[in-house]
Amino acid sequence: MRAGSFAREGACICVADLYLDKAEDAASDIAAGGGRAIGVQLDVQRSNGWANAVAETEQAFGPVSILCNNAGADFRVSFDEQTEEMWNLVLGTILTGSFLGTKP
Ligand SMILES: NC(=O)c1ccc[n+]([C@@H]2O[C@H](COP(=O)([O-])OP(=O)(O)OC[C@H]3O[C@@H](n4cnc5c(N)ncnc54)[C@H](O)[C@@H]3O)[C@@H](O)[C@H]2O)c1
Repeated sequence: MRAGSFAREGACICVADLYLDKAEDAASDIAAGGGRAIGVQLDVQRSNGWANAVAETEQAFGPVSILCNNAGADFRVSFDEQTEEMWNLVLGTILTGSFLGTKP
């Protein structure tokens, strides 16, 4: 788990995921190992979601200094089977998500 690697180096972690239960499970694992972490729900394709995630993180730990922007969508189907909807979701998650997360 990448978040765990940061925690082992002493970082306080905000685990953000589309699925809150996954984010909270990862945060719990970090806490169980002695680290400090919160889990928040975030759809990386939504700019207001980023604002909320950053606000929750700053409230818990102070200013954000590292971003690991690695949300991904991958349907693992052949090119012929890939629909336009799948294509847009992959690009939206990886490209738009990275754009919005990196933007001040
Ligand atoms: N695992 C690999 O070997 C590998 C290799 C090269 C590149 N990558 C890329 O690295 C990224 C992460 O890969 P991974 O193996 O950790 O994938 P993963 O599927 O294990 O994790 C991706 C996470 O992103 C979350 N997510 C999906 N859509 C989201 C959204 N809109 N907002 C917030 N969270 C969302 C998922 O819930 C999941 O927890 C992907 O972009 C993937 O294509 C992975």
